[in-house]
Amino acid sequence: MAARLLVNGKSHEVDVPADTPLLWVIRDILGLTGTKFGCGIAQCGACTVHLDGEAVRSCSVPVAAAEGKKITTIEGLSADGSHPVQQAWMAGEVPQCGYCQSGQIMQAAALLARTPKPTDAEIEQAMAGNICRCGTYNRIRAAIHAAAGEG
Ligand code: FES
Ligand code: FES
Repeated sequence: MAARLLVNGKSHEVDVPADTPLLWVIRDILGLTGTKFGCGIAQCGACTVHLDGEAVRSCSVPVAAAEGKKITTIEGLSADGSHPVQQAWMAGEVPQCGYCQSGQIMQAAALLARTPKPTDAEIEQAMAGNICRCGTYNRIRAAIHAAAGEG
């Protein structure tokens, strides 16, 4: 199918089967490799992007379901790394290997957009599906508080 996708404010037309995971299109066709492949079955969060502002697992969203929605990847969160979550991540030196971190940042940004001052419990709940093999969870929580202006 020919799908028209709005990614980071730019319109793209792609010709792929309707059930192609959005992640494949983002990485392999559009070349936006900041979004990572981890598990492929919505269990790790590495592939998290925003669909109309909601955090979703792009490995498990068929491209047909993303048509007509505003797709934002880590590359589109800000033009220059100036988003408060990115700033807090840098200040708090959150990443270790880095593999999970674009997904973590996208999940955190979606949380803060709807809950500007989240409690630890709200952070825990929102971030529970984003796995970090390096165990950066404490720094992630601190950076989310910092991005919320509570750091
Ligand atoms: S790659 Fe999508 S949730 Fe793991
Ligand atoms: S920083 Fe290595 S998996 Fe999270």
